[in-house]
Amino acid sequence: SATPVTVTVTGAAGQIGYALLFRIAAGEMLGRDVPVRLRLLEIPQAVKAAEGTAMELDDGAFPLLAGVEVTDDVKSAFDGANIALLVGARPRGPGMERGDLLEANGGIFAPQGAAIEAGAADDIRVLVVGNPANTNALIAQKHAPSVPPERFTAMTRLDHNRAVSRLARHLGAPVSDVSRVTIWGNHSATQYPDVSQALVAGEPLLPRLDRAWIEDEFIPGVAKRGAAIIEARGASSAASAASAAIDHMRDWVSGTPSDDWTSVALPSDGSYGVPDGLVCSFPVTAAGGSWRIVEGLDIDAFSRAGSTRPSPSCARSARRSRRSAWSEPLLDRRA
Ligand code: NAI
Repeated sequence: SATPVTVTVTGAAGQIGYALLFRIAAGEMLGRDVPVRLRLLEIPQAVKAAEGTAMELDDGAFPLLAGVEVTDDVKSAFDGANIALLVGARPRGPGMERGDLLEANGGIFAPQGAAIEAGAADDIRVLVVGNPANTNALIAQKHAPSVPPERFTAMTRLDHNRAVSRLARHLGAPVSDVSRVTIWGNHSATQYPDVSQALVAGEPLLPRLDRAWIEDEFIPGVAKRGAAIIEARGASSAASAASAAIDHMRDWVSGTPSDDWTSVALPSDGSYGVPDGLVCSFPVTAAGGSWRIVEGLDIDAFSRAGSTRPSPSCARSARRSRRSAWSEPLLDRRA
């Protein structure tokens, strides 16, 4: 039978880990014919809880589960790993400044990047879920110089899925009819959910939407959904985040549908004016196990008019460049 794929999950005893591991074991990420070996990395205080989760994984009698190991040793956790889901991170505590947050997460993601550099399999693919995800992905990537940079990604798929679902609900259409939605920027309140290219049942979606709804409800609704979940559930999004991580990896490995794209934060290749190397969310397709940024997107009247909403540097530069694509000479050429 096939060689198992080694999947390392950090923060395995956390709430996302709990929702994620069973779906991986069930074959929902890599396919129902691909055996997996799970490596669970936790901090020492949470190893026991992770072992409890490993016991439950055993009790699931998953035919595809070739083994589960629990460790608090960063180096062995990534040894031979084909896929790494970096979920564990240091949340911003009370009174913590941005600098403190970056330093704490540097202390997590730098050694993890180094361990990936030292021991991961050649085909290693990394998804960072732990926040601040874009920054954490960049830190890990910088510590793994021999791994192609685009193998380090950060998750904006949850935002993407939230946007698709919200549009479908607003239009009374099935979720599967909505395509070509893009999240630009970071997984944060400054992201830019972009519907200018979106289709519903293959037809442009924009004419069916009211600009005020897009600006006043849709964009802030997607960007602030995480806070709304915390307010309602008393805990942050977990099952939906795990589901998005599954979608991200599944598309990366198995490809995106031919007529659609998804949103992934990955190191920029300079596309849309985003500085080289900056981890930023773009519209991407996947084929043959690699992401490709969708290039040369046109923009609509709404985006052209620009918005005064704050945006992170990567989304800002993307939008600036897209606006400049509508400068007079280009308009003339298009006419
Ligand atoms: P949680 O607090 O329930 O679990 C985090 C786990 O990570 C804990 O078990 C903790 O012991 C572990 N951990 C901390 N440092 C670690 C280290 N150095 N190595 C290994 N494990 C470590 O948190 P939850 O709800 O599972 O969320 C995890 C992360 O995902 C958070 O940073 C959260 O902000 C982020 N998140 C990102 C989303 C996205 O769309 N990108 C969506 C939702 C959450």
